[in-house]
Parts: sequence; structure tokens; C-alpha cells
Amino acid sequence: MNNNIDWKNLSFAYLKTDYNVRCYYRNGKWGEVEVSSSENIEIHMASTCLHYGQEAFEGLKAFRGKDNKIRIFRMDENAKRLARSANGIMMAPVPVELFEKMALQVVELNKRFVPPYESGASLYLRPLLIGTEPRVGVAPSEEYLFVIFVTPVGPYFKEGFKLTNVAIMHNYDRAAPNGTGNIKIGGNYAASLKAGKIAKEKGYSAVLYLDSKEKKYIDECGPANFFGINKDGVYVTPESKSILPSITNMSLFQLAQDMGIKTERRPVKLEELGDFVEAGQCGTAAVISPVGRIDDLDTGISYEVSKGGEPGPISKKLYETLRGIQYGDIADKHNWVTIIE
Ligand SMILES: Cc1ncc(COP(=O)(O)O)c(C=O)c1O
Repeated sequence: MNNNIDWKNLSFAYLKTDYNVRCYYRNGKWGEVEVSSSENIEIHMASTCLHYGQEAFEGLKAFRGKDNKIRIFRMDENAKRLARSANGIMMAPVPVELFEKMALQVVELNKRFVPPYESGASLYLRPLLIGTEPRVGVAPSEEYLFVIFVTPVGPYFKEGFKLTNVAIMHNYDRAAPNGTGNIKIGGNYAASLKAGKIAKEKGYSAVLYLDSKEKKYIDECGPANFFGINKDGVYVTPESKSILPSITNMSLFQLAQDMGIKTERRPVKLEELGDFVEAGQCGTAAVISPVGRIDDLDTGISYEVSKGGEPGPISKKLYETLRGIQYGDIADKHNWVTIIE
């Protein structure tokens, strides 16, 4: 173990580790995996990733359990999503087996950076795929670099599972219905930076995006999916062509069903927010970040989506169950974790 890291006070930020792993796609095929201890990559200044946004990434975590074993959560789903992202912007997809092999290898190489169980922290894996061929005219690259680096990150909730508020702003869109919102590429995040900054300056934790065509339906919450528990006790989450299919949301949806909770994935009308008694943002970073109030900054309407000013019992139970599976405290009956001894 590394004794110089203050595990209990880690934030969600980059910290240097020992190694990263890299693989190059050239002449129509993926090469050998290379291990590097450099934090830099050398690319041509005319690379397509820099000019035409040929860039996709992923985010997943490895957790150290009470038994000291390390568990990576649903890496096959991240691998499949990266392949979909690659296909969406004409990049060479990374084969699922190559992604998984590199993810296991990079965690193994950086084992001493997987935080201890007691800290509630984890090791974040950031896979990155970029087009590296020089192009001055708009066209996809024929050469790619796939890198996975890791960094230890702190628990999202240092002071416990707390409510935050989110803002709706009708004049900002993150993605178009037939655009790239359903894949994880850098351009979507660039498009969300301005609205995100305005919301944060006003004291909100995120922007809750509406569908960009009609502004009638709920899309997602900045870098997380949105779900609510309605007054009938149903787990409701939006279906939309422009949101990223969250692996956390997919897992919570399954866990809710396991608990006997009714689940619905369908278009969710803005007015329906008034029916929710619990709501949350969900994603790899926080699992669930419970939402207290949603303010529509354009109409002035506010929705109190967590009754009583406290996170609701279903959100809490889902959060504890998913975290329990990730840390190995609860049986992994869906085979979601890959164990590294
Ligand atoms: C736009 C967006 N939506 C949702 C999510 C949550 O997805 P996941 O649960 O797979 O981390 C993320 C984070 O990856 C995201 O960036």
C-alpha cells in the first residue's frame, strides 16, 4: 500500500499513479498492449481528435473490499458502450476483450493506489480513445490510440448522503435528438460546460436538461441520468434518444425490480416532476446523488422532489445495495463484478 496518500481526504481529481496502458490501431488492426509510466502522449498537431472531435472516453471504478479483494464493476458494459461511441463517430472500436484485458492489467499494475475499504474511496479508471492521424480536411482517422489511466478518487459524499438542488434552463441544449447525446464523446461535454457553470454559480449541483426538440420531456442531469420515485412508488427514468445509457441507472433499475419495486423507462413529461416523492442523479461518480428541489429558471416553477427535506428511503436503499455489491458486502447475484485477487 502507498502510505503517502491521505485516503480519507481524496477528492474527484487527477493524482499520478505508477502506470497506464496503451494500444495503437494501425494498418487496420490493434497492436500489442504497451505499459507506460509517462503521463504524456505524443500526437500530431493535425490529429483528428484535436480538430474534429474524434474522441470518446469511459469512466468506471475498482473497489477494495473488506476481504482486501479488488472488484471492478460491470466493465463489460463500459467496453460495449465505448464500442458504440467509437462507431458513432467513425472511430475504430476497441474489442471488448482488449478493453477488459487492459482494464484488469492497469488495475493490477496500480494495485497500491486502490484505496483501503474503510476510506470509502475507489480507483477510477479512465479509458480514452482518440483519432491520431493528421487530417486537414474533415474525415475520420485511420489510426487510433486507446489509453487507460487510473486515479484514486474520494467518496462522493464526505458528509453523508445529502440532497442537492438542480436547475432547468430552457435555452441550453446538451445534445440533439438525432445527434451524439447517446454516446460518450468529448463534444457532448464541451456543449454542456457553459450551462453547467451558470448553474453552479447559482448554487445548483447540475443542469437538468430537457429534450432539445420540444422542451417537454426530461432528458438527463449534466453527467448523470435522472430517476424519480413517484407517489405510487414506481421507479421512473426517462427514455430518450439523446441521453447516455447509464450503467448505474441500468443497475439501479434491476435492483429496484429485485426489491419488488415497479419500474418504468419511458418519456417523462416535465409536469410529472410534481408527482415525484424522491429523485436522484445517478452515475459512476456518486451512485446516487439525491435531488431535493428542481427549479425551472425560465418559468419560475419549483418542484420539491424529495418530500420532507431528506433523501427518500427507496433512494437510500438502492444506494446502499449498489455500493454493497461494489465493495463485496452484498452478494453479487447478477455477476456484475470482476474480482482481482
Ligand atoms: C452524460 C452522462 N450521463 C450519465 C452518466 C452516468 O453513466 P454511468 O452510470 O455509466 O457512469 C454519465 C457518466 O458516465 C454521463 O457522462
